[in-house]
Amino acid sequence: MTAIAVFNQKGGVGKTTTSLNLLAALARRDLAPLGIDLDPQSHFTLANGIKGLPSSETIYAYYSDNTPLSHLVREVPSGNGAHIIPAHMELFKIDSLYGRNPNIATQLKRGLNEELLPDASVPVIIDCSPMLGVLSLNAVFASNRLLIPVSADYLSMQGVNRLDAALKVLEKPLGKPIQRRIVMTRFDSRRKLSYQIFDQLHEHYGNDLCDTRIFESVSLAESPVYSKDVFAYAPNSQGAKDYNALTEELLACGFFDPECSW
Ligand SMILES: Nc1ncnc2c1ncn2[C@@H]1O[C@H](COP(=O)(O)OP(=O)(O)O)[C@@H](O)[C@H]1O
Ligand SMILES: [Mg+2]
Repeated sequence: MTAIAVFNQKGGVGKTTTSLNLLAALARRDLAPLGIDLDPQSHFTLANGIKGLPSSETIYAYYSDNTPLSHLVREVPSGNGAHIIPAHMELFKIDSLYGRNPNIATQLKRGLNEELLPDASVPVIIDCSPMLGVLSLNAVFASNRLLIPVSADYLSMQGVNRLDAALKVLEKPLGKPIQRRIVMTRFDSRRKLSYQIFDQLHEHYGNDLCDTRIFESVSLAESPVYSKDVFAYAPNSQGAKDYNALTEELLACGFFDPECSW
């Protein structure tokens, strides 16, 4: 299958919420996905119910000590069938410690190819930090696809331009365009702005924009507080329905199929 980086250089747009629930939705389809938390804030790790690990048991150890990725993989405690490589706050150091190393951008790709991907036909979901630094470059090099959540509350045309500029920064070292899908999150049907932004995104990104919109919903905001994905927390909620629909849409368009381009 394939690796997906969930990226947007803006914080609070639903990257972690999308990573959490996409991972769970894929697990529920018996696809045994692997999540990787590449954000020093470690919200993806926490939302999956993993707390208080020393940095030596997280992805930080892969960068700082060459600990094999396979030693860092653990089951998601809810038992939903997904695995995760957790993050630690110390990941903040990666940029300053290794930013000048010319091989650093491809380090995660090398690890995944050497250790995990060849004998594992699993989808990999990488939750990115909003920083346009070494960690995001690692995610982009290791992935075949970007999934870009854009929230309904901030985007003006300037927001789209900024996102395009961020994607160019990431694409430049790759030397080719990144295949991507945009998903609109935090859609509020009572606000005209939500519809305006959706139309704007459609005009700008065309078929790269997912038809599925993720609505603003209490269950999505609450579930991580209880270390649960939305399917475990509120299976009949709008949030569960939306992330199921997004997963179906992405599966149907071949987003998880590395051979498929569109
Ligand atoms: N569709 C949604 N409805 C309600 N709350 C949401 C939704 N998506 C995200 N949130 C909440 O918004 C905040 C930021 O979301 P998060 O996924 O952490 O964004 P990011 O990872 O991009 O910083 C979190 O508190 C999260 O629970
Ligand atoms: Mg996040």
